[in-house]
Amino acid sequence: MYVSSQAPEGPPVSVSSLRKMREESTPIACLTAYDASFAARVDAAGTDVVLVGDSLGMVVQGLSSTVPVTVEDIIYHCRATARGLQRALLMADMPFASYAMPEQAIRNGARLMQEGGAQMVKLEGGLLQAELVHFMTSRGIPVCGHIGLQPQFIHRLGGYRVQGRERDAAEAMLDDARALCEAGVDLLLLECVPAELAKRITGEVSVPVIGIGAGPDVDGQILVLYDVLGITPGRKPRFAKDFLAETGNIPDALSAYVAAVRDKTYPAPEHCF
Ligand code: KIV
Repeated sequence: MYVSSQAPEGPPVSVSSLRKMREESTPIACLTAYDASFAARVDAAGTDVVLVGDSLGMVVQGLSSTVPVTVEDIIYHCRATARGLQRALLMADMPFASYAMPEQAIRNGARLMQEGGAQMVKLEGGLLQAELVHFMTSRGIPVCGHIGLQPQFIHRLGGYRVQGRERDAAEAMLDDARALCEAGVDLLLLECVPAELAKRITGEVSVPVIGIGAGPDVDGQILVLYDVLGITPGRKPRFAKDFLAETGNIPDALSAYVAAVRDKTYPAPEHCF
């Protein structure tokens, strides 16, 4: 293990502790990480869930989308990240087309858990994935359903835009959320969703909901680590906030992010749609 000397407080985070946090209205703080050194810092700051996201294709590998990321890439970064964690729950992204068929999804999900050390996997899609989610969760693979903006669909979407603004799209997203919950997801992630719609979804479902660009009325927030440190090149998404700029060092920036999620000062209105 490659852990921080500053041990994070409390027992390891589990699926049931995330559920308890929702019940007790304690906001869940989540961040991405891709290696042991950052994972140890993120963990020491009190982050509850660490995601080895396929965003690594863009922020680590310099690709223009998440589509080329492979299961091997995620396993490599997951193993490294796992070595840095003591408390946070480790979630791993299932890359593009790695869960197109049920047997393939089980095989790849199991690899992320057995070889990568992940405790939960995340996959994109709503209603259409419900059967697959049931197949995976009933075989012991905890799943986070990712709806709203789904970056793996970029070549069909044609751009990274807010989803669910029109009434039909909003109703469809509610149906997606309900179907994923009925299928057994343990966590729901909403990306780039109008704050009012995210609030409605969070009120209707029975599992913890985390948001990125989904406003304050969800059960927790997630950001890409490099956005929190202000080092992602190019145009900054509206929901991103550079905590390093106001704190001046990495441990304080990460603690400031976790504190801002807990006391709901992040996201502020300027980060919402
Ligand atoms: O891959 C990733 O980092 C993600 C976040 C945007 C939530 O899915």
